[in-house]
Amino acid sequence: MKIGRITISDRASAGVYADRSGPEIENVLREFFTDATFEAAIVPDEVDLIASALRNFADELKCDLVVTTGGTGISARDVTPEATRAVLEKELPGFGEIMRVQSFAKVKTAILSRAVAGTRGQALIVNLPGKPTAVRECLEILAPAMREGLAHLRGENPHEK
Ligand code: MTE
Repeated sequence: MKIGRITISDRASAGVYADRSGPEIENVLREFFTDATFEAAIVPDEVDLIASALRNFADELKCDLVVTTGGTGISARDVTPEATRAVLEKELPGFGEIMRVQSFAKVKTAILSRAVAGTRGQALIVNLPGKPTAVRECLEILAPAMREGLAHLRGENPHEK
């Protein structure tokens, strides 16, 4: 299984600060998907660049799962949800809904995230907020559904076993 992680941040992509959220995606997902290999990218907060990185990871690199971190809020430069929607074929609103509801129990600012998720071909694409702590909190909520969703995309139906 191949997982793509994309850090979306003007400052991390310019080297102003180190990317801690992207590596955290990898740390958490290695615990859930022990056989995974990873592809990584850091892109600035630009719709076109984010959309092409997502297309590249899903279509060319054939990632099963593509997880982004950052750019989901309401600051002027936050455009990750717009770029993601532009490449999705089927949207999965439940990912954003449960992330916001369950995270809200811990941090009241969780509802400032506009994260979206969905499918493109055989790939599952999921936005996460930008902070490393938020990455871990959200992935722990979503990982079981990610595992099941990936099986469905591969044409397996675990309920038929
Ligand atoms: N979700 C969790 N689980 N934990 C957090 O600390 N931070 C919130 C929110 N979601 C947070 C969270 C904050 S402060 C913001 S502004 C939004 O995610 C959007 O973050 P982003 O713009 O870096 O994607």
